[in-house]
Amino acid sequence: MSKILAANFKTNHTRASTAEYIAQLDQWMQKNGYRDEVYIFPPFTALDSFETKSSIVVGAQNAYPTVKGSFTGEIGLEQLDEFGIKTILVGHSERRHLLGETQEFIASKYRWFTERGLTIFYCIGEPLEVREQGEEAVRRYIVEQLEGIDTSYENLIMAYEPVWAIGTGKTATPKLIEKTHAVIKSLCDRPLLYGGSVKPANIEEILSTPGCDGALIGTASWDVSSMVSMLETVIEQ
Ligand code: 13P
Repeated sequence: MSKILAANFKTNHTRASTAEYIAQLDQWMQKNGYRDEVYIFPPFTALDSFETKSSIVVGAQNAYPTVKGSFTGEIGLEQLDEFGIKTILVGHSERRHLLGETQEFIASKYRWFTERGLTIFYCIGEPLEVREQGEEAVRRYIVEQLEGIDTSYENLIMAYEPVWAIGTGKTATPKLIEKTHAVIKSLCDRPLLYGGSVKPANIEEILSTPGCDGALIGTASWDVSSMVSMLETVIEQ
């Protein structure tokens, strides 16, 4: 079964180091005949029209639902189009919790980009205090994060990223991933990735969890050799 691996650079890498990373990864993928989908989400300043020969797709970590306009600090469709970028992350927990994006705003952003055909990685996941309240609370939280989201959108890739597992080194157990993915899949039948402290040491176990179609990786994706070792796991599976 093919798997989707995606690298979220967050606020890491420069324009130069991103270009070098993509060139190295592209070369490795060609040499090894790697054909499964691989997405890279660099910071805005590193976006470009990368001429890769492999299945690498470059996306944006965010964009404002506008073609252009007065939205200081944001980029719109015009800036994405310049580089042929047709993939974005929406709903990442860092934007929800650190930057205050509400579900209402996220849903309107989602709708705007679906109307323009972009591929959307839609991120959901509960904070620790919700997980501690048990499965039913997690389910309710997930349902809320799907409010206003057209879950039948054909270019939608879902990502389940429990907030307590992001950047903490605390990965969800395969059992918890399987259970939560089953809940999400019952609400939305689209490819579903897991994200949260995925790394070379645990990716094999995570990818073999039933209902897991790939991984959205932060920290462990920033080093190209670590990313390559995770791609090797996909080949070996
Ligand atoms: P980490 O892999 O650093 O936990 O980050 C996950 C994430 O937020 C990917 O979007």
